[in-house]
Amino acid sequence: MPIFNMFYIISLLLLSTSAFAEGEVASESPSFQASAERGQKIYASVCIHCHSLTHEVSAVGCPGLQGVVTRHDPDWLNAWLTSPESFAKVDSKAKKVVDANPYGLVMPTLPEMQNEHERLDIIEFLKTLK
Ligand code: HEC
Repeated sequence: MPIFNMFYIISLLLLSTSAFAEGEVASESPSFQASAERGQKIYASVCIHCHSLTHEVSAVGCPGLQGVVTRHDPDWLNAWLTSPESFAKVDSKAKKVVDANPYGLVMPTLPEMQNEHERLDIIEFLKTLK
């Protein structure tokens, strides 16, 4: 993994221990239309540092996102993206996803995923990766 990515990941891990754990209790507005195109932009600025869009697991154990919607439904993904660490404490499937990673790296709670609309956009994008 390029050194640039390592710095990004380290800064995320530091951030995730602070204010973001609370999350934002955004309610989905009825007029909101999730957009795979906006979701792709989020992927390209946030998720790309750790995840590929193939089936390949990265060198530090981040699963490739290809086909991820066939493994998890949208509600599960929404909860996971909000706070992977908190969700893994209460959901057995999420705990399994974490335990399956032999490198001990846990996906951090991302500041970019505290807005429900952005989570729905990224899920819309993930749906295109069947
Ligand atoms: C700092 C690295 C990192 C970033 C950034 C990151 N993830 Fe992850 N993600 C992981 C790791 C590591 C796992 C494997 C589970 C674990 O150990 O927590 C994972 C697991 C997942 C899973 C479950 C995959 C499966 O096969 O069950 C999904 C879905 C996911 N991430 C989506 C995303 C999305 C969408 C983004 C961008 C908004 C993102 N991740 C950003 C590290 C990251």
